[in-house]
Amino acid sequence: MATLRNPTTMKRGGLSMIACAVAVVVWAANGEYSVLVPPRREVYDGGRIFDISHRYHAEMPDWESKEGLGQFLWLPKSMKNGSLANNSEMKLPTHTGTHVDAPGHVFDHYFDAGFDVDTLDLHVLNGPALLVDVPRDSNITAQVMKSLNIPRGVKRLLFRTLNTDRRLMFQKEFDTSYVGFTVDGAKWLVENTDIKLVGIDYLSVASFDYLIPSHLVFLKDREIILVEALKLDDVPAGLYSVHCLPLRLAGAEGSPIRCILIKN
Ligand SMILES: *[C@@H]1O[C@H](CO)[C@@H](O)[C@H](O)[C@H]1NC(C)=O
Ligand SMILES: *[C@@H]1O[C@H](CO)[C@@H](O)[C@H](O)[C@H]1NC(C)=O
Ligand SMILES: *[C@@H]1O[C@H](CO)[C@@H](O)[C@H](O)[C@H]1NC(C)=O
Repeated sequence: MATLRNPTTMKRGGLSMIACAVAVVVWAANGEYSVLVPPRREVYDGGRIFDISHRYHAEMPDWESKEGLGQFLWLPKSMKNGSLANNSEMKLPTHTGTHVDAPGHVFDHYFDAGFDVDTLDLHVLNGPALLVDVPRDSNITAQVMKSLNIPRGVKRLLFRTLNTDRRLMFQKEFDTSYVGFTVDGAKWLVENTDIKLVGIDYLSVASFDYLIPSHLVFLKDREIILVEALKLDDVPAGLYSVHCLPLRLAGAEGSPIRCILIKN
């Protein structure tokens, strides 16, 4: 159970979420104790549905931060303090955790023209998808792309890399040595495949050394959608139906996104 292996460590009032979860004991009408334990799952329906989004929590990595995301959730109105209901507020960079990039992320004129996350094509973000393992000894170069032999017609590809093996998304400190696309790798994909949805397992599809140039190659024609920081642990490689839904944040060039894979 992934939940037990990677307990969420978000602090709330000094108690971890897990501790809170097991501490809630209520009296049932028949006078017996029952314990309320919220379910936290990664796999549903006997292994048919995989949640490939990361859970948002204070200790998840954040771009170029040593301390991780930090507190992003507050409870300005709480029942303990006399409100009718608990009402949380959050503040977080739109490129946090599992997220999507819109063309305005790296092109000012697309940003100004309104190519925000609300304009992304849901057809590209939903449909048949291939999850592949890439060689672990390299960034994603043209040579690596070529060696994958992705058939024409494959529109959605999720790349599992060394990032997953290194569990980088479970480490609070941002790590620049993550694997991503080099410029020639991105160019090769654009010129030689039909891939329109590119998914990867750390915070950027572009390797740190080619951060902006690789993004430019992917986003310049506004046809390719980039989904970053997918949680691809323990999911068998192969063909799935992917379902990714960004928030309709008008004016934002990035958004948290919930993605799942369904086995056909
Ligand atoms: C939030 O609401 C629950 C009831 O649903 C209440 O028991 C709890 O104390 C509230 N939390 C806070 C921090 O007020
Ligand atoms: C309730 O209000 C008190 C006093 O303003 C504050 O110290 C405390 O943190 C609040 N508790 C919650 C759960 O919001
Ligand atoms: C990928 O590139 C980064 C720099 O962008 C580098 O630190 C890392 O070692 C490379 N990874 C591999 C597996 O070659």
